[in-house]
Amino acid sequence: MENRQIQRANFTVSALGLGTWQLGGDWGDVSEEQALEILGNAYGAGVNFFDTADVYGDGRSERIIGSFLKTIDKDKVIVATKMGRRAPLDSSFYTYENFSAWIDRSRTNLGVDSLDLTQLHCPPDEVFDIESVYDDLDRLVDEGAIKKYGVSVETCSQALRAIKRPKVATVQIIFNAFRLKPLDEVLPSAKEAGVGIIARIPLASGLLSGKYTKETIFSQDDHRNYNRKGEAFDVGETFSGVDYEVGLQAAKRFANLQNAVAPATAAIAWILSHDAVSTVIPGARNISQLKGNLAATDYLDLGASIDTGVVDIYDQYLRSSIHPRW
Ligand SMILES: NC(=O)c1ccc[n+]([C@@H]2O[C@H](COP(=O)([O-])OP(=O)(O)OC[C@H]3O[C@@H](n4cnc5c(N)ncnc54)[C@H](OP(=O)(O)O)[C@@H]3O)[C@@H](O)[C@H]2O)c1
Repeated sequence: MENRQIQRANFTVSALGLGTWQLGGDWGDVSEEQALEILGNAYGAGVNFFDTADVYGDGRSERIIGSFLKTIDKDKVIVATKMGRRAPLDSSFYTYENFSAWIDRSRTNLGVDSLDLTQLHCPPDEVFDIESVYDDLDRLVDEGAIKKYGVSVETCSQALRAIKRPKVATVQIIFNAFRLKPLDEVLPSAKEAGVGIIARIPLASGLLSGKYTKETIFSQDDHRNYNRKGEAFDVGETFSGVDYEVGLQAAKRFANLQNAVAPATAAIAWILSHDAVSTVIPGARNISQLKGNLAATDYLDLGASIDTGVVDIYDQYLRSSIHPRW
């Protein structure tokens, strides 16, 4: 496993991390046994970075990770969680008291004294410019409740504002073959500032695997069913904001860019071919998906070789709808 440095956090993270939204909910059913198997196999393959949130399954994802941490040396891994989505999406809830309460709940769920990394979970836009928010987070670091903090963002503008804050250690952003805007300014700025980039939704919620068709049915409790038009949260979080039918066409083109590895593996390898990315966090619902994602770390050159094709597909199908929005 290749490891990368996050300068501002002083973390060494595996280039391939693991997203664990799937272990909480919103993606159909993943049993606790399956979840622990995925975590154990990822760790066994050298993954040391796990992304979760206090709202994934209302804490289920954190609690399962907490059970897993009891079985290993927890100092060997970095668990990044998120907070802010247990309250209405309103900047007035971003207070020291709420942060403390949310962090305490995550510490209990994970069974740790101090959170390795907590991220503001796609907060309202104005939160990025509120001084007291950063002061409160600094205080929580000083008090030992958290080791480092970062932000998970929806837009490039939010990422750039966060990078300017000196103690923001990481920015989690959607970056994949169907979402290229972070290449313009965010990745270069983060690299220069030593801020870690956590690339989420690397497969555009699975679209880039090329396995879906017009007939694919997602279960009732899967956000790819109930959030296709942004009914529950930002539409950018589902299929990366790409219209499903357009995405099917673009995914077909993506699958034809190479024939050495599965499209999902190539999609992750392409992301990792950008050295400003610290870790990429695909979600996996089973061991076979995890293995396909792990394989990407062996194909970084192949990832780089499809770059021109990726840009062509983006320009033809996606740039006009995606670029101005996020
Ligand atoms: N606001 C935020 O901060 C935020 C928002 C979203 C996600 N995240 C984080 O980012 C992580 C990753 O994003 P994501 O899970 O939304 O999207 P993703 O990683 O782009 O897609 C995950 C889906 O892709 C499919 N998949 C995974 N590996 C595969 C493989 N090797 N071959 C074929 N299909 C494969 C699976 O689909 P099927 O289920 O159809 O099998 C899986 O559920 C999350 O788990 C979470 O930790 C954070």
